[in-house]
Amino acid sequence: MLDIQKIRADFPILSEKVNGKPLVYFDNGATSQKPQVVIDAIAKYYQEINANIHRGVHTLSQLATDAYEISRVKIQHHINAKFSHEVLFTSGTTHGINLVTNGFASILKPGDEVIVSSLEHHSNIVPWQMLCEKTGATLKVIPMNEDGELIIEAYDALLSEKTKVVTVNHISNALGIINPIKYMIEKAHAVGAAVLIDGAQAVPHLKPDVQDLDCDFYAFSGHKMCGPTGTGILYGKEEWLNKLPPYQGGGEMIKEVTFEKTTYADLPHKFEAGTPNIAGGIVLGTAVDYLNHIGFHNIHQHETHLLQHATKRLLEIEGLKIYGTGKNKASVISFNIDGIHPYDIGSIIDKLGIAVRTGHHCAQPIMNFFCIPGTIRASFSFYNTKEEIDIMVEAIKKAKTMLS
Ligand code: ALA
Repeated sequence: MLDIQKIRADFPILSEKVNGKPLVYFDNGATSQKPQVVIDAIAKYYQEINANIHRGVHTLSQLATDAYEISRVKIQHHINAKFSHEVLFTSGTTHGINLVTNGFASILKPGDEVIVSSLEHHSNIVPWQMLCEKTGATLKVIPMNEDGELIIEAYDALLSEKTKVVTVNHISNALGIINPIKYMIEKAHAVGAAVLIDGAQAVPHLKPDVQDLDCDFYAFSGHKMCGPTGTGILYGKEEWLNKLPPYQGGGEMIKEVTFEKTTYADLPHKFEAGTPNIAGGIVLGTAVDYLNHIGFHNIHQHETHLLQHATKRLLEIEGLKIYGTGKNKASVISFNIDGIHPYDIGSIIDKLGIAVRTGHHCAQPIMNFFCIPGTIRASFSFYNTKEEIDIMVEAIKKAKTMLS
């Protein structure tokens, strides 16, 4: 069992007050809080080894380069990638997805099909729509059911030799549903399609094994897993990363430049033009170490208890409806109360120190499916407690009384 009070002491912000009340932070789906080791590692980088990487012969440049590359290898091991050059540093999930869609612009042709799921965040819809507009490919959508689960038979039926790419999130940001991605990847490969997994909401809760999943791309953000904002990773299988053209041109991504022709650097540098977020990349490694020290098995156990407790307590509230009632769920609960706008509840409980997200969660198609403007979303992390959930439930009851 985790010693939650000890873990909470690692996060300075958790002992802050907001609006005069102790902070109850349930907006982990948007971004996680940062432990002191991560905060300290950022300062340490700038205080001790700040220099540009892969460039200078001088000592600081080499120290910074080594730290950056050590972090890449750490992340390679964390996600069990075969090679460290399959791990690209990005600014976040959105960057990773756009890098891939940009690459597919030179591969897709009219008549080809791209399959997305109806559970996607806008960042895993819009880039594919843009790609389809550019190439003449067609976007197909896997439908969902009332429990917020993908209808897998419909997915099976959508697959054909026209399917070139399938893209789906590992865990839905709006509903917390965990998708059966291993099965989906296998089926997509059977028709020769490549698969991108949006792992943004998964990496705070679990350790993805990209070789076991056999996905072609897996994109995630650092800031949702205790790392700094502006950091992220795109994993890509070597053969795909070699096939795709570079995303951005610039320094560091070249082998040789003349005015007649430029040849590109080997992986991973081909996709890492310009000076990257060096401190962020290094400190993402620190965050990964921190999470592994807590242990993903422990995280899973604790978050499962939080999810069960919150589901039970929230359902005590009359008129409350949970969206995303499928069985396989991460510690995210989206809900509404009959006749009350989610924003109103969110604003009142904010005054009581409770941070939740309200709105469409950048997943408007899901809201349209349920014919609602948005939901209240409470997303829990391993540093949250049952007591905090009880505080939220009481605050929602109070808000409901005020608004009814
Ligand atoms: N994608 C983040 C969320 O779901 C910002 O809140």
